[in-house]
Amino acid sequence: MSEYKELLKGLDKRNLPRHIAIIMDGNGRWAKKRDLNRVKGHEQGSKVVKRIVETAARLGVRVLSLYAFSKENWNRPHEEVDALMHLLHKYLLSESDNLIKNGIRIVVIGDLSSLAPPLRALISDVCLRSRSNTGMTVVIALSYGGRYEIVEAIKAVVKDVQGRKLDADTITEETFGRYLFTKDIPDPDLLIRTSGEKRISNFMLWQIAYTELYITKTLWPDFTKEEFLSSIIDFQKRQRRFGMTDEQIASKKRQAGARGA
Ligand code: FPP
Repeated sequence: MSEYKELLKGLDKRNLPRHIAIIMDGNGRWAKKRDLNRVKGHEQGSKVVKRIVETAARLGVRVLSLYAFSKENWNRPHEEVDALMHLLHKYLLSESDNLIKNGIRIVVIGDLSSLAPPLRALISDVCLRSRSNTGMTVVIALSYGGRYEIVEAIKAVVKDVQGRKLDADTITEETFGRYLFTKDIPDPDLLIRTSGEKRISNFMLWQIAYTELYITKTLWPDFTKEEFLSSIIDFQKRQRRFGMTDEQIASKKRQAGARGA
């Protein structure tokens, strides 16, 4: 039996993380280790994206978010930025029909105004064509920054308050969440970061308040569907407390069990 099938036996299908977010890191180091140009690492990383999207959809994950390019990544050498934009364009062009046919909804978040017009046009076409799909949602964070997203949300809130569409005294965390790029998307349950770095790098700062973290030393181009599955199984062994005590969580579980939930 394959390692993947063996691992599948340990997966609780009823307790899947609804939303998995991934910081795909380590492409450059993967290339450097092989004496290759960094771009080769991104190319390999792109192939891994395809495999992980397929695996997540097959498992029944509802949302998969991928941190593809941060606002800070614009400061990389021109050739690398161009290569990354080209890869994203190529990925959307070659994969979108298949993804859409398989019921996948594609959402792109970030400062899209800074992208080249052809890529922007492709993104709006793909998002539009897939918007009524009810299968997994793939969120691609592109020219994205968590702080930027929060500032944009604040500006929109202020506008609505000034326009008397919103009463400032009634604003709650939930209200604010509706002003973020991820407004109709549940917060990530699990955040995977590859390459061993223990930081968040400005990714979904608001949304990951109670997200479980899985940090692996594996470089993104080496990340496999087996490790993806292992990260979910690891997540399923954790107790999510949302600030409550052990006893409160146990009692909540008993109550849910009694209700047959
Ligand atoms: C970080 O590795 C990775 C990126 C900045 C880009 C991620 C892009 C891809 C995986 C390919 C295209 C994406 C899609 C959605 C098709 P790094 O370059 O910072 O690695 P390093 O820390 O080892 O230098």
